[in-house]
Amino acid sequence: MPVVPMKEIVDRAFRDRYGVAAINVVNDLTMEAVLAAAVAERSPLIVQTSVKTVRSIGIDLLFAMWREMTAGIEVPVSLHLDHCPDRSFISDCLRKGWNSVLFDGSRLPVAENLRLTVDIVAEARSYGAHVEGEIEAITGVEDDIGSDEEANRESLPVALDFIRKTGIDVFAPAIGNAHGVYRSEPHLDAQRVSDIVAAEPIPIALHGGTGMTDAQFTDLISRGCAKVNISTALKITYMKSNLAFLLDARDRDTWDPPSLFTSVRAAVLEMAAGHMRRFGSVGRAW
Ligand code: 13P
Repeated sequence: MPVVPMKEIVDRAFRDRYGVAAINVVNDLTMEAVLAAAVAERSPLIVQTSVKTVRSIGIDLLFAMWREMTAGIEVPVSLHLDHCPDRSFISDCLRKGWNSVLFDGSRLPVAENLRLTVDIVAEARSYGAHVEGEIEAITGVEDDIGSDEEANRESLPVALDFIRKTGIDVFAPAIGNAHGVYRSEPHLDAQRVSDIVAAEPIPIALHGGTGMTDAQFTDLISRGCAKVNISTALKITYMKSNLAFLLDARDRDTWDPPSLFTSVRAAVLEMAAGHMRRFGSVGRAW
């Protein structure tokens, strides 16, 4: 299976209770490395792009990279736009060919967020694309979007009403999770995932995956977290593997860029494959 609608990937994972890594890439090397990990592990994969990454590379070039790198790929993969509060940017990515978008209306009153999300779902459908929705900000700043202030959680009826009226495909609740590095093990409200899923069986997106324990992943995935977001782990792996290689290059006074790329690619590939193993998605390609 090549590039597929995001809903196909998350619905299967939700049904069979495994998690699909949704990894934020930052450039061509990291996009290629995480795709190679999916192929090596026979795993489905969601590749995510932040608004910042799309803007820094350019929407046309980024999409051309995606198209070329996934041409002929034999595992199911999907391209997703992560947290985007900019309505017109959502349209730009859908028009270009992104398979799904996360409209981040979490700073808006729920009624306004709902009204805009209904409109985005209709637009996405016209492209055969899908939508993730959220009503509470995930704590932490991710590529310039968000805040370190923990947002209030809405009640279960408000969350269910939002899911039902918008027709979103994936829901991202705040459960004590946060973007970035946790200073200590996070206290997660796993019961909230179960309560939402029991009332409305919708795949849940687990944000702030970096730093959660294996036990937390296993528990949350069994409750319905079918999409597991990983961004900071890739950034750290990418930066530290560059640093280690360059320090060694300085010691050896040997300056060969392709060797650097090979080394960093291997580290990013292993980081991505490790998450696929932890989330139970290995061998799940169809
Ligand atoms: P981390 O940066 O904690 O991995 O979270 C990623 C995320 O949720 C992206 O939306």
